[in-house]
Amino acid sequence: MTAPRPPRIAVYPGSFDPITRGHEDLIRRARTFADRVIVAVAVNPAKQPLFTLEERVALIRGAVDDPAVDVRSFDGLLAAFARATGATIIVRGLRAVSDFEYEFQMALMNRNLAPGVETVFLVPAFDLTYLSSSLVREVARFGGDVASLVHPAVQQALRQKFGK
Ligand code: PNS
Repeated sequence: MTAPRPPRIAVYPGSFDPITRGHEDLIRRARTFADRVIVAVAVNPAKQPLFTLEERVALIRGAVDDPAVDVRSFDGLLAAFARATGATIIVRGLRAVSDFEYEFQMALMNRNLAPGVETVFLVPAFDLTYLSSSLVREVARFGGDVASLVHPAVQQALRQKFGK
């Protein structure tokens, strides 16, 4: 009899400022091969996010309804966080060729720091490939309609931030 394999844990890191329908799509895709997905919200001192860390975590929890998806924040190196959680996979999305160079460097550095943790690149649904948190923030800032791009709770949070 073969021993049962340990649960396959994937970490999906990012800024999620805020979570979009593109992120939600990637989380669903990651769940097709991972038993657990940890959405890891980065504390990035170099960035000035629109939403606080706590707000970003809460918005993801509100947008993702899957008991096998955990939402956590992390400070410091992603490779160390992945190791500490027992993850063997890092999930990143690739939307365009322009994403590639940065993602490629990051994947190699993370493998160097945490051998055995593999980066897996996922491509979002075709109609979501143009989507990014920064575009969503910009459209919302000027009162544009983001209803099809984000969860309703995120839309509401954007309205409140921008007083629309
Ligand atoms: O959504 P983003 O902003 O593209 O996510 C980038 C993120 C958070 C995944 C990346 O900046 C990261 O992993 N930060 C943690 C610090 C770290 O490990 N840096 C070295 C990466 S090789």
